[in-house]
Amino acid sequence: MQLMDNFQRRFQYLRLSITEQCNFQCQYCLPDGYRPNKEHQFLSLNEIGNVVSTFTELGVHKIRLTGGEPTLRRDFIDILSLIATCPSVTELAITTNGSRLLKNIAHWQQAGLNAINLSIDSFSPHVFKLITGQDKLTSLILGVEKALEVGIKKVKINTVLMKNLNDNLSDYLIWLKDRPVELRFIELMETAESQPFFQRYHFSGQMIERQLIEQGWQLQPKAPLSGPAKVYAHSDYQGKIGLIMPYSKDFCKSCNRLRVSSLGQLHYCLFGQAAVDLRDLLVSPAQKAQLKARILASLMIKPEKHLLQEHQIGMLPNLSYIGG
Ligand code: 5AD
Ligand code: SF4
Repeated sequence: MQLMDNFQRRFQYLRLSITEQCNFQCQYCLPDGYRPNKEHQFLSLNEIGNVVSTFTELGVHKIRLTGGEPTLRRDFIDILSLIATCPSVTELAITTNGSRLLKNIAHWQQAGLNAINLSIDSFSPHVFKLITGQDKLTSLILGVEKALEVGIKKVKINTVLMKNLNDNLSDYLIWLKDRPVELRFIELMETAESQPFFQRYHFSGQMIERQLIEQGWQLQPKAPLSGPAKVYAHSDYQGKIGLIMPYSKDFCKSCNRLRVSSLGQLHYCLFGQAAVDLRDLLVSPAQKAQLKARILASLMIKPEKHLLQEHQIGMLPNLSYIGG
């Protein structure tokens, strides 16, 4: 079974949000911090199991847990263990702000986690605190070292580019010299709640790309079924640099992911105007056939590309609902 849309894009990668809760206050996402909404009941362990087993039967091999901050869930280890027992899941990843990384990574790895994307928006402690509201840079960096030490092979750092705040390439290069991690610059994306912020801070990834090329970095060939990142490598560096430029032409051509929110909504595009509710079909494995039919039907309405350039920013107030 294969998930494919009308534009011959194949989907083997699911990003599953398990909570909207977050303990950071990133300026571009939750500048005033997370405020609980009592009506929002996040997916239960049972519902998560049903999502994962259905999508894997439809050909998904890679699951990424996102949030909010996924590791804040009290049953986080149970969630990892449950997904890890699914034989067709070859990659079990998380996107995390790293606040619990150093302390827990060994346990997570034992439970089956094998890849991490960690957000570090600056390697200057002062700027890091300015962006996230948290003074945790040192612990995050130790967390990266620990993750490599306990055998997590895929460690990536996410850095959202912001003009005049964290756009100096050389600050990152020193750090990548001896560490086998991929640092990915993500262009700031406009959301309903971040419009003035976006106007002021959006910085094009192409500026970084130009500097990389000037300094001898080389674009790596795309692996089959890889996502929209452009990855550069350099023989003097163990680390690599990825660029995620949603405002660039053809960005959506290599879209390889589907997203399910912590409320059980299938978002076929991050910037789509609608989502498809799956929740009523997540109660029991007996509903799988119906659930599969709904997922397949929703792929038929997945658009060819987003219209961010025209400021059509979709339905999400900020990305804490679905983890970017
Ligand atoms: N623009 C770009 N990336 C964002 N993220 C959250 N909000 C935005 C935004 N407006 C991404 C960050 C973070 C991840 C959890 O979500 O990369 O690392
Ligand atoms: Fe939390 Fe991630 Fe949003 Fe930052 S970007 S506030 S870490 S959900």
